[in-house]
Amino acid sequence: MEYFAKMIVAFTWLLFLPGIYASWDEWWTYDGISGPDFWGLINPNWNMCERGRRQSPINIEPNRLVYDPHLRQIHVDKHKISGSLHNTGQSVIFRVEKGGKHHVNITGGSLVYKYRFEELYLHFGADNQKGSEHQINGATFPAELQMYGFNAELYHNMSEARQGSNGIVAISVMIQIGDESNRELHNLASGFGKVVYRGQKWPINHLSLAGLLPETHHYMTYDGSTTHPGCWETTTWLIMNKPIYITKQELYLLRQLMQGDQTLPKAKMANNFRPVRALHHRTVRTNIDFTHSPGTKACTMQREMFYAARQWPKLL
Ligand SMILES: *[C@@H]1O[C@H](CO)[C@@H](O)[C@H](O)[C@H]1NC(C)=O
Ligand SMILES: *[C@@H]1O[C@H](CO)[C@@H](O)[C@H](O)[C@H]1NC(C)=O
Repeated sequence: MEYFAKMIVAFTWLLFLPGIYASWDEWWTYDGISGPDFWGLINPNWNMCERGRRQSPINIEPNRLVYDPHLRQIHVDKHKISGSLHNTGQSVIFRVEKGGKHHVNITGGSLVYKYRFEELYLHFGADNQKGSEHQINGATFPAELQMYGFNAELYHNMSEARQGSNGIVAISVMIQIGDESNRELHNLASGFGKVVYRGQKWPINHLSLAGLLPETHHYMTYDGSTTHPGCWETTTWLIMNKPIYITKQELYLLRQLMQGDQTLPKAKMANNFRPVRALHHRTVRTNIDFTHSPGTKACTMQREMFYAARQWPKLL
């Protein structure tokens, strides 16, 4: 849509919305006139959503990946944590317990600092053809899990970190349908039926974030933004090169979640993904050494296979 037309719609809404919702943070959506096309126009603090050129999510193009031998393994602390699952109206989010002593640190990968896990988002579709935010070679997945952490060496908390350089890390894991779900995802799924309406929350204990990662050391990394407002371009993305699995039943429960509260449930939350953004000449690096991993399978969506591999077609 034309920028000017968008501005008019956005400002018309400005007159009404503050009366309906308590704060800015609450009323954005994934569709219509408070959807992704308008995030950057409605709140001046979110203008990167409109103007930014290092935005997320992106489509990962396998034949443009660059192998970087200096990338290290990603390390996520293994201990279990407690927190709660929240229905925010836009997403279902797991937040670590405030004041918990045992932070989960995220290090390695392309990270130079130590990051502290803060929250985990689930994006999912109303059907199996869509749901993930990132795409691999144009393909989407039924869901995507994103673990966000902030740079605990330079900043005190997420809200401070997202405004500063190297502020945030986001680890992305694609979710595919399988006969058996990832065990930690199953733990999270135990709360899906308890947070059907906006504002509801449910305690989740003994969650291992490391256990939510697929069994691979391979990943892709690039500099981008948070995929929710204000689209802060201080985010280092690490995209795991294998999916984890969710059962049909659990996915069904996710799809029952609503955007509104019990008195006004509104629409289903499903399809809470931001469309892919242009790459704008950014480089996506990977630690997959295609030339020296002849056992590595090419990009597919199947179990035991990796998403993508540059030069691999030559080896087939
Ligand atoms: C995580 O990092 C903090 C310092 O930021 C440290 O105190 C803590 O012990 C680390 N956690 C683990 C499990 O190593
Ligand atoms: C985050 O840390 C900054 C700096 O210490 C502080 O001013 C701010 O109130 C904190 N914000 C939250 C939400 O805790």
